[in-house]
Amino acid sequence: MGEARDSGRRSTSHDPRTTARGAVGLYVHLPFCASRCAYCTFATSTELGLLERTLAAVRQEIAGLGQRGGRPLATLYLGGGTPSLVPASELERLLADLDRHFPLCEGAEVTLEANPDDVTAEKAALWSRLGINRVSVGVQAFSDRVLAMLNRRHDAAQASAAVKTLQRTGLAVSVDLMLGLPGAADEDLRATLAELLHLRPGHVSVYLLEMDKPHALARLAERRPDLFPDADAAAAQYLAVGRELVAAGYRHYEISNFALPGRRARHNVRYWRRRPVLAAGLAAHGHSGRRRWANLDVLSAYLETVEAGRAPRAWTRRLADDEVAKERVMLGLRLADGVGEGEMARCSELAPAFGERIEDFLALGLARRVDGRVRLAPRGWLVSNELFAALW
Ligand SMILES: C[S@@+](CC[C@H](N)C(=O)[O-])C[C@H]1O[C@@H](n2cnc3c(N)ncnc32)[C@H](O)[C@@H]1O
Ligand code: SF4
Repeated sequence: MGEARDSGRRSTSHDPRTTARGAVGLYVHLPFCASRCAYCTFATSTELGLLERTLAAVRQEIAGLGQRGGRPLATLYLGGGTPSLVPASELERLLADLDRHFPLCEGAEVTLEANPDDVTAEKAALWSRLGINRVSVGVQAFSDRVLAMLNRRHDAAQASAAVKTLQRTGLAVSVDLMLGLPGAADEDLRATLAELLHLRPGHVSVYLLEMDKPHALARLAERRPDLFPDADAAAAQYLAVGRELVAAGYRHYEISNFALPGRRARHNVRYWRRRPVLAAGLAAHGHSGRRRWANLDVLSAYLETVEAGRAPRAWTRRLADDEVAKERVMLGLRLADGVGEGEMARCSELAPAFGERIEDFLALGLARRVDGRVRLAPRGWLVSNELFAALW
C-alpha cells in the first residue's frame, strides 16, 4: 500500500467534512468466496475470474453514489461473500475511492468480514493500515468434525489462530458462531464455548441454523433428519450459550448479538435503530428515512447495469406511516432495550393480533414490562417470529 494514500486516509479524522452531522453508514458487498459452505444462501460467486471486473463495478457504483452527495461515514461495513480474500491492491483501490467520495468521521467503525483461512499477520497489518479497525470472523464452531460437515475451509485451530492474530494486531474482533448444527454433540458445543471464552473477542454473533432456505444442509436434513438437533435442542443450545456469555461479562444486546462493554457493532445497531445505511454491491440493501431499496442479486445483471452507467436497483419503495410504526417496533424488540409502551400501544391498534400476542408473551414470561418499556426475554426472542408475523 502506498504511503501517500495511507497517510491520506488517516488524515480524514481532522477533515472538517467528517463531522458527525448528517453522517450515515455504508454497506459494501464483496461477493466472492473460494468455495460455498453447506448452509449458505448469501449472494456470492466462486467465479474468482470476475473479481476484478466486479470490484471495478462496485467502485463505479460508489462514485455514482458519491456524486449524488457523498456523506461522511459513521460506519463502513465490507461484507460478503469473503472480503478477506480480496487482494491487497484491489482493497487499497476500493478504500481510496471510498475515502474520496465518503470521508470517514473521526472514530468511524470500519469492519471487514473475514474467513479464518485467509487471516495472516501480514493481511491483518495491511487491513489495519488501510483504516479497517474491526474484523468479523466466521468461526461457526471450534470443532473440526462440525466444520467439516459445514464444508468450511478451516479447522478449529486455524480459527483460534486467526482470532489471536487479529487481536495481536490491535483490531477489534467479532466472532460468528452457528448453533443447531448437524453432527454437533454436547462436547462440541462445550469445546466451542470454552475456546470462545478463552479468546474473549469483544463481540460475538450467535445464529441458529436457518433451514427454510435452499442450501445443502437443508437437503441433507430431508434425507438424514437424525443428524440434526430438533428445535427444542437447538433452542436449549441458544439459551445455554447466552447464559454462559452473560456470566462471562457479555451483554446480550440483540437477538443474535453479545458484546463486552463498549463493543457493540455500531454498524448493525444502525439497522435496528433505523439510522441511514447506504449500500453498494450485489444484492446490497439500503435505507434512509422512509426509503428502502435493494440492488440486483444476479451478478451478470448487476455488472451489465453498472457498466451501462445505470443504478443497479432491483427495487425501491417508500414506507407508509403504519409501516414505519410497525418496523420501529419489530426492530426495537430485537434489541434488549425494547420498545416504549406508547409505540407498542400504537402498533397494537394498527395490528390487533400483535396486541393479543404480546399480552400472551407477557403472561408467559417471554416478555417483560420494565421502566415503561416492553422487552423480550431470550426465550421470547427464540419465538419472536410468531410475534412479528402478527404485525403484517
Ligand atoms: C455474510 S455471512 C459470512 C461471512 C464470511 N464469509 C464467513 O463465512 O465467515 C455472516 C454469517 O452468517 C451466518 N450464516 C450464514 N448462513 C446461515 C444460515 N443458513 N443460518 C444461520 N446463519 C447463517 C454465519 O455465521 C456467517 O458467518
Ligand atoms: S458462509 Fe461465508 S464463505 Fe461460506 S459461502 Fe457463505 S459467504 Fe462464502
